[in-house]
Formats: sequence, structure tokens, C-alpha cells
Amino acid sequence: MQSHDLIVIGAGPGGYTAAIRAAQLGLDVACVEKEKALGGTCLRIGCIPSKALLESSEIYERASEGFDEHGVKASGVELDLARMLKRKDRVVTSLTRGVASLIKKNKITRYSGTARFASASSLTIDTPGGPQEVGAKHIVIATGSKSSSLPGIELDGDRVGTSTEALSYTEVPARLAVIGAGYIGLEMGSVWRRLGAEVVVFEYLDRILPGMDLEVANAAQQTFAKQGMQFRLGAKVTAARAEGDACTVESDGAEPFACDRVLVAVGRLANTEGLGLESVGVELDSRGRIEVGDGFQTSVAGIYAIGDVIRGPMLAHKAGEEGIACVERIVTGYGHVNYDAIPGVVYTHPEIASVGKTEEQLAEAGVAFRKGVFPFMANGRAKAIADTGGFVKVLAAEGTDRVLGIHVIGPRAGDLIAEAAVAVEFGASSEDIARSSHAHPTLAEALKEAALSVDQRAIHF
Ligand code: NAI
Repeated sequence: MQSHDLIVIGAGPGGYTAAIRAAQLGLDVACVEKEKALGGTCLRIGCIPSKALLESSEIYERASEGFDEHGVKASGVELDLARMLKRKDRVVTSLTRGVASLIKKNKITRYSGTARFASASSLTIDTPGGPQEVGAKHIVIATGSKSSSLPGIELDGDRVGTSTEALSYTEVPARLAVIGAGYIGLEMGSVWRRLGAEVVVFEYLDRILPGMDLEVANAAQQTFAKQGMQFRLGAKVTAARAEGDACTVESDGAEPFACDRVLVAVGRLANTEGLGLESVGVELDSRGRIEVGDGFQTSVAGIYAIGDVIRGPMLAHKAGEEGIACVERIVTGYGHVNYDAIPGVVYTHPEIASVGKTEEQLAEAGVAFRKGVFPFMANGRAKAIADTGGFVKVLAAEGTDRVLGIHVIGPRAGDLIAEAAVAVEFGASSEDIARSSHAHPTLAEALKEAALSVDQRAIHF
């Protein structure tokens, strides 16, 4: 039986990052992946293809109606959806190949097949050539997550589908029902609305983007509604099905809703099935995720888990940080993830980004804080690029002034949040951000001004 120091199951952003870091630290590392392409959900059917389509659809919408303001007349703008989808596929292929070459460059052994535990220190990998036994001192489970559904919804892999199908509709649906106003529903709903679909979002709660700062979520909802997205809040979807080309969505207390396609985006479930976890005694929590303690160790010594398959936000960069911390802990005894400094971004237009605590979380925890807000309307660069919607909000502790949370809705929020994450990671005060020189004219000045505004001394508002 071939044996390694460490085997990672799954080559998504959590798994391949853990494998590369372990190889850098001098371990003999292997990685098992059942899909042909490496990179996991994020690269193949998640973050990357959705961002490619968000960019393409935004360009289409701007070319169709957004150039006038700049004195640019565009006519005859047409959608070539097949080409748009092909470009998205090319982006995915180039990145998944990139991961494969990183695996090779770092001399990581790659196994193609589906792994399950044979014992606490060995795996059976079902490969096309038959089962193969492989052993390791340390095994890291990084198997990710899959779309979940609801009772009453018949996912048919076509008309009633998940984000995977919504990345590849071959024609623009006339009417698209989106179930769930979370990250996926709003991003993919935006793509198809921009390309011409009538999009109706059904959300169980009375707000969108649960978990995000409420003031930001409400501002986002207003903007999306202005863009033409329709919201049915407080709507508990009880059934969705396709009959031929027509779909129906049923929700509590409302008439059945007829549409062409249904996108189910009600969250994701940890991928634990088929790993043989029970046979080796790896325990799950009440939500079916792998229970981990210090250093990402599961209930079995030598077996670890990271990423979507454990607690915490299902985000690629969170999984990557955990992968690094997990293997550093194994090799060096140190390794740590600061969960308060993990940013979250929704790549709609405007983008929405946040790091640290929301106002609601601080209020609930009884933490006294001061708040500074600065609107992009008062930012020179935002005016110059004709993208002035939204604001930056800085929340700082009363007394110490330590930054506890930063929330941004507006142009390039996903890039601006990097500075905010560094501030939280370094334990910065709002005064630190306010005193740091920010280049003019940049969107980042809105963050500096919001920090100044914590102390009522913003210059431009
Ligand atoms: P989500 O948890 O963000 O949102 C699901 C929504 O569905 C919630 O608002 C929930 O209240 C609603 N819902 C649940 N049951 C319902 C029902 N019966 N009827 C109507 N609404 C119902 O989940 P989503 O959007 O599927 O995303 C899954 C994961 O993928 C998230 O954890 C997210 O972090 C990650 N993701 C991250 C992205 C990013 O970083 N930009 C992009 C896409 C996904």
C-alpha cells in the first residue's frame, strides 16, 4: 500500500490550498479528487463561472442602456448567449488547469477517484481502474458542500434546478423564479435579469441577505427592486415543479406562480455521504457537518476537516484559511483563523461586502459602539465613474474605538473590503483608518471618510 504523510480529500479551495501549504512545509502530500477538473465547486460551478457571467451580463446591460450618460451612443447591441457561456467555460478551464499545474509543481501526488475511509489512517479510492488502498499519517477532509433543496421541490436537473443549471441556461428565460434571497439567488438572479428575464425572488424571511447588516440589506433590496428584480418576502415556498416547459412555484398563502425556470438557492449541505465516516467514528453535528475541535481535528486522532464540510460560513477563502491553519498546526504546532476578519462579498451591482460584526449582532451582544457612515454620492471618484449608489459604514467600540465591523454597499465594495479586513485583523481603531492617507480620487476614500465620521468629522459630508 502506498503511504503519504498527509492526504487531502477534495481539491477545492480548501483542499488544494491545504495540500500546497503542506508540501511547502516539506510533507509528502497526496490529494484525492473525484472530478476530472480540480478546483472544486468554486472554480467549476460556483464563484468563478458566476463572476464571469456577472461581468458579461453587466457589460451587456451597460452597453444596452448605460453608456448615454457618458456621451457614448451605442446601437445594435445584441446578446450572443452561446458565446458568453463559452467565454465563461474558458475562464473555468484555464483556472482548473492552473490548479492542476500547481499540484504538479508542488510535487503533490494526485489520485483521481472517490475516497472513503478504510481505517483511521487509510483510504480506499475507487478509481476507473478499480479500488486502490492508500495510507497516511494525517487525513484532511475537504469535501465541500452541495446545493440543498426543500420538501416539495422536485429538482429535475433542468427547468427546476440549482446554481449549476443557472450557470448554463441555453436561452434567457422569459420568467425566472428564484427561491432564496441569499448570495446565490441575488447573484444569479441579477445575471438573468440583466440578460432580459423577468426575475421574481421568493424569500422565506421578511428581508433579503440574512446574516448581513440589515441597513445594508435593505438598501440593497431597494436598489435591486429599482433595477427590476421583484421580491416576494415572507413567502415560504412549499412546492416547485416542471411540467414540460412550464414551471409552477407554490408558496404559503399565495396563488401558484407560473414561470419558465426555477432556481433553488436555499443554502448548501455538507458533503459527508459515502466517506465511511461512521465506520471510523468521525462525528457529525446536529446539522450534518463534521464536528471539529482545536486545530480542525475531528473526533478521531489524525483525521481533520476544513471548509464547507464544517461549521462557519461556506466561503472559498474561509476554507483556504482553514486549510493553511490546519496543516501548519499539524507541522509546526501553530495555526489560527480569525473568524471575525473573514470578509463576505455579494457580487451584484452594487456589490455588497462586509467584515466583522453587524449592528444587529453588536446590539444583541450588548456591545456599545459608535457608527460612522459615508455615502458614495459624496465621493469624487464615484461621481467620475457615474456609480454613486451606496455607502460605507464603520462600527467601532465605544471607549476603545477598535473597529468591530465594516459594511459596504457600492462600487467595487468587494475590493474595498480588503482594507477593512486588514484593519480588523490588525485590531485597528477607526482613528487608525481615518489617519491613514488614502489616494485621491479613489473609492477607498469613502472608507476613510466613514472612519472620520465615527467621530463626526467627515470632511466631504
Ligand atoms: P444562503 O443561505 O445565502 O440563502 C438562502 C436563502 O434561502 C435564505 O435567505 C433563506 O431564508 C431562504 N430560504 C430558505 N428556505 C426557504 C423557503 N422555503 N422559501 C423561500 N426562501 C427560503 O444560501 P445560498 O444563496 O444558496 O448560498 C449557499 C452558500 O454559498 C452560502 O453559504 C454562501 O456563503 C455561498 N456563496 C457565496 C458566494 C459569494 O461569496 N459571493 C456566492 C454564492 C454562494
